[in-house]
Amino acid sequence: MSEKPVEYSGPQRVFSGVQPSGDLHLGNYLGALKNWVALQDEHDCVYCIVDLHAVTVWQDPRELPNQTRNIAAAFLASGVDPKKAIIYPQSRVKAHTELAWYFNCVARMGWLNRMTQFKDKAGKNSEKMSVGLFDYPVLQAADILAFKGTHVPVGEDQKQHLELSRDIAAKFNNDFDVPGFFPQPEPIIQGPGARIMSLRDGTNKMSKSDPSDNSRINLTDDADAISKKIRKAKTDAGVIPETTEELAERPEVKNLVGIYAAISGKSKADILTEYAGQGFGVFKPALADLTVEHMAPITDLMKRYLSAPDEIDAILSAGADAASEIATPIVADVRDIMGFWKV
Ligand code: TYM
Repeated sequence: MSEKPVEYSGPQRVFSGVQPSGDLHLGNYLGALKNWVALQDEHDCVYCIVDLHAVTVWQDPRELPNQTRNIAAAFLASGVDPKKAIIYPQSRVKAHTELAWYFNCVARMGWLNRMTQFKDKAGKNSEKMSVGLFDYPVLQAADILAFKGTHVPVGEDQKQHLELSRDIAAKFNNDFDVPGFFPQPEPIIQGPGARIMSLRDGTNKMSKSDPSDNSRINLTDDADAISKKIRKAKTDAGVIPETTEELAERPEVKNLVGIYAAISGKSKADILTEYAGQGFGVFKPALADLTVEHMAPITDLMKRYLSAPDEIDAILSAGADAASEIATPIVADVRDIMGFWKV
């Protein structure tokens, strides 16, 4: 009789997702999409538009299909290639909701009570939030593990959710005595793009839900809007410092240098060497030019994709079929493991 492997030894697979709950911004692009593109040449990649997560807060049903298309267009325009990576809407693949229920019975209340993102989103109104918003990280674990995802490229804000996914995977393997059935998904959180902050307040992350549009650069912003927002970005009275240590107490400056580094691929130290002693009257226009040069082609391509919605729909439909083919047998195995009645 062969021993069951203790460690997961199946195929490696990259999984990640973005919510269709508004326009994507530079943080989503630098924290997630840019890394997704880099991974697709070497790895088996599955990139999901997580509409089931989006409805944990109210979404207008008349808008949701277009929001989903917008995100698909952003994936494609950023360089995600449907010939190399699977892209699809989460709600088209039933494995997500099914596995999420099974995981609801594995995850512990105490684990979810510790999730800081729920606390941040709910604030003082937690009693009025949907149960789905509280349960959001369990569905996220199901997303990844329905594909036995081993690597998850995300921004830094997702670190805690990834830890929960690992805990759920470990408890499932342990409770049902199936060592190595689910992998321990590893977050890929890398580079200065992993935590892009608001342009108005360097202590808050750039976010779709910030009421100030000037706080973020949207992937739909044209060159003019991008330049204006960067020129208006909050800074301080100083100049660009010489060392990265001096950025520690200057969150807004640190953020702008971080954006420069994430887009250009240069290190923060090299950028500081280049601009040390210069005022923001020099640095901001340079950053604006760099950002426009990098983002304008993406914005243009996005518009072109959106002018052919049928093509997007065909890509998403084929992607959903391919995703189902992977996830359905994995969830069927889970049913067997848990002892559900066979049909
Ligand atoms: P969402 O849509 O809020 O964010 C999508 C991706 O963008 C990253 N991100 C940022 N990165 C850097 N700086 C920022 N200011 C910034 N804001 C957002 C997020 O970290 C994320 O990578 N819960 C996920 C969606 C999800 C998911 C999954 C991700 C659902 N299931 C399974 C991975 C695997 C989220 O927050 O999406």
